[in-house]
Amino acid sequence: LNKAVEDAKKLAAYAAVDYHVKDNQTVGIGSGSTIIHAVKRLAERVKAENLNILCVPTSSQARQLIHDNGLTVVDIKRHLEIDVAIDGADEVDSELNLIKGGGGCLTREKIVASCAKSLVVVADYRKDSHNLGEQWKKGIPIEVIPMAYGPVSNAIENQFGGSADLRMAVGKVGPVLTDNGNFLLDWRFDELYDWNIVNMTIKLMPGVVETGLFIDMADRVYFGMEDGTV
Ligand code: A5P
Repeated sequence: LNKAVEDAKKLAAYAAVDYHVKDNQTVGIGSGSTIIHAVKRLAERVKAENLNILCVPTSSQARQLIHDNGLTVVDIKRHLEIDVAIDGADEVDSELNLIKGGGGCLTREKIVASCAKSLVVVADYRKDSHNLGEQWKKGIPIEVIPMAYGPVSNAIENQFGGSADLRMAVGKVGPVLTDNGNFLLDWRFDELYDWNIVNMTIKLMPGVVETGLFIDMADRVYFGMEDGTV
């Protein structure tokens, strides 16, 4: 990946951790490549400032990352009150609605975000989009229980058009399995929609676990820019 993009991810992640994380907080840790920088920064601050921070992971990747950086992992079953969740996004529109789930962790990410007092998103400049779908051509990820992928794909295409395809694993045979043992559909479309209606309609289809549409959930988004600003 090009250096400007990686630098932008780091800038956004550092800014968010420096501004939003305070001592004695429980922090939701998102998934993806940008969050790696956020966890590194968090670990630096915990050490330098002797902070007491508990981390709630949104994926097996996040859990590993928290461990590897010497931070404390806690379970959401016991820590229902999360002060701030920090997470990446695949696309952000002008109202701070998000597409998430490029890495397949949308369901746990949404659960953690929903338990957090605020959701802070960290992303590079490529994710900044006026309307959802303009930047991210890989579609909207939807987690489904395995037996439902055919009917759900069909229902989405009939109702909204576009194409909802099963996400296949790269480098091995078969579909991608989520951390929850489910499949993912990636729904690609060419139109503009009312995302709230789309989200609710898809969510109600039998077999759908969660959609990668995060409507009205993000409180703040940090974009690292190409020129080194945030
Ligand atoms: C994981 O399922 C996603 O929701 C990620 O948060 C999202 O794909 C952003 O990832 P990057 O930081 O790698 O772009």
